[in-house]
Amino acid sequence: MDIQGQRGVIMRLFLLLTALLHGSYSISLKGLFGEIVSPGFPNIYPNNVKESWNITVPLGHVVKLYFTHFSVEPSYLCEYDYIKIFSEGAEPATYCGETSTDTEEVPGDKVTYSTGNTMSVVFKSDYSNEKRFTGFRAFYVAEDIDECKMLNDGEPFCDHYCHNYIGGFYCTCRTGYILHENKKTCTVHCSGQVLTERSGEITSPDYPAVYPKLCNCDYRILVEEGFSIILEFVESFDVENHPQSQCPYDVLKIKTNKGEHGPFCGTKLPPRIETGSFKVDITFTSDISGSNKGWKIKYSVTAMPCPKPVAPPHGQISPAQQKYIFKDRFSISCDTGYEMMQGSSTLTSFTTECRKDGTWDKQPPLCEIVDCTDPDNADNATVEYITEVGVTTYKSAIRYKCEEPFYAMKEGSNAEYHCAASGHWVDSKGNRELPECEPICGEPTGRLTRVIGGQKAELGEFPWQVLVTVDGHIGGGSLLFDKWILTAAHVLSGHKDVSAIELKMGLIKRQSSEYVQVLPEKVFIHSKYKPDSQKSRYDNDIALIKLKHKVPISANVKPICLPGNDVRYNVESKTLGTVSGFGKTKQTSLAAEYLQFVEVEVIDHKQCKDVYDKLFPGLEQVTENMLCAGTEEGGKDACTGDSGGPYVFYDEKTHKWFIGGIVSWGEKCGVKDKYGVYTKVYNYISWIENTISTNF
Ligand code: ARG
Repeated sequence: MDIQGQRGVIMRLFLLLTALLHGSYSISLKGLFGEIVSPGFPNIYPNNVKESWNITVPLGHVVKLYFTHFSVEPSYLCEYDYIKIFSEGAEPATYCGETSTDTEEVPGDKVTYSTGNTMSVVFKSDYSNEKRFTGFRAFYVAEDIDECKMLNDGEPFCDHYCHNYIGGFYCTCRTGYILHENKKTCTVHCSGQVLTERSGEITSPDYPAVYPKLCNCDYRILVEEGFSIILEFVESFDVENHPQSQCPYDVLKIKTNKGEHGPFCGTKLPPRIETGSFKVDITFTSDISGSNKGWKIKYSVTAMPCPKPVAPPHGQISPAQQKYIFKDRFSISCDTGYEMMQGSSTLTSFTTECRKDGTWDKQPPLCEIVDCTDPDNADNATVEYITEVGVTTYKSAIRYKCEEPFYAMKEGSNAEYHCAASGHWVDSKGNRELPECEPICGEPTGRLTRVIGGQKAELGEFPWQVLVTVDGHIGGGSLLFDKWILTAAHVLSGHKDVSAIELKMGLIKRQSSEYVQVLPEKVFIHSKYKPDSQKSRYDNDIALIKLKHKVPISANVKPICLPGNDVRYNVESKTLGTVSGFGKTKQTSLAAEYLQFVEVEVIDHKQCKDVYDKLFPGLEQVTENMLCAGTEEGGKDACTGDSGGPYVFYDEKTHKWFIGGIVSWGEKCGVKDKYGVYTKVYNYISWIENTISTNF
């Protein structure tokens, strides 16, 4: 026997003694099972006893009690001796009699269950036990309750899933739900939701299905300050209601910093709410019972509208809207040919935003027509307006005119320009380059016709003639365009230094004080010119002088034309041309006082070559880069001082003079059967063009 058992026996003896003295005692039973017997069992029970057993089983269990023996003095309504069974919340059951005779008041093989986890059994006997009744013997066991199969106040113990175990049960919830702290209800997390979009929807949890119990939802709509939130209840509304009291169970409330709306419940859609606030708090709570479908709110915002923008003339607004409210933006763009102007500054783009006070954050700009302003001056050209004179705005058109009568538009140059949307004057191809006016070449002023033997030139007759002086020696040259002089390389006698070179134009009297001085900038001597070579010192005797400034073209100062690539410019023998210069008029004389000219014809190349091959065997040679000229009878020739000067030809096709030769060398001057030798310009067209174009 263990100590517990010993204690139990001592306790029972003690209680029995007490009962014998006082006639009543009570026993408390805590085991999972046990036996109760009447005092003295299986002998007759004593008189005047009252004994009670308080059975307690663990929670989650009920007490199951059944009798195996029953013999208690029977009496009307069990007035004398009885057994009473108390179970909380239930009417006590009273028994007396004998199983063998009585069927009314004996428990028989009836099993009694407690409602809770306790049960009390009371046995009482009065003063006499005449017929020697032996009392009772009963057993009890703790029996598990299957709560999952039971209802609690008409409702199941668990909201969603119930799990029974011995001595208890537990509840779980469907996915998406959480078990409320009451351990039975399935609810949802629906607090702390913040919506910041400018429109949206909020519904009760599970809408349109029944919302969960014990919800404590809160939703906040928070948009930028300046907006006002509008709430609209849509579709259906069903929140547990009460006919008298105002939403005592489930309730939807709306709160803003301007006030409160609700509580809402019932089945009628609440009205649309213009909250006037940028912040709305919605709370929704549900109690532990009910099955209602909840609610759905659509929200949007409105704000103070800004004045409807008006597009400036020649401008557009985008996007075009009926109404512009807080945070709405629009941009302005100007039509082609117009530019955005804010005051005096040009804008490349413009966007403005509606402020919360209903004003635009920027003033709209104006679209002003693009102004190309006065067109740039082109050299030797004047401008005339095709459109309204002096108007330089978008689409205005102008025409450049080269100064008459000495200049003409360079081939490929455009004369007409218009003011483009870019603010620039452009030609029909969209180019901004100014037109180029070139001096008209090869047109003498006055005579220079086929006058034979005329000696002294007139002013303007050889307007391209240049008087070149290098270190006191004189030579000739020809004006090309208005910035270049073509001469013979040997004239410059290797002078690359331009300070030694003096250039005069527009004169026929060599020592006249009236002339046009032109300033050399740079000298370009043909790279194959070899003055030291024995065989042919004058091969490639050609040079160009670039001028510092453009020469103003006038009646007496004009360029000579260059030969073209066409074969007709490759002058044949017998072609007559004119050579001019300030050189000696006779082998023996000094330089001429006036510009002289003489007409000579091109000599057959082989004939000329033979003459010089015989004269200087193996030395001075007439190369393919040279041209010989003279006359049958002799006497007409260039001479010392004419070098570098022009030998020009008249082109029947263009009616202009071009330079076919440059005075280069010759044996004496004007001797019969000896010819003047010239640099053949036709062979140097590309060299001239390249030199000019790469040194522009
Ligand atoms: N070399 C000479 C000079 O420097 C030009 C000679 C021309 N002579 C002639 N007979 N074509 O001026």
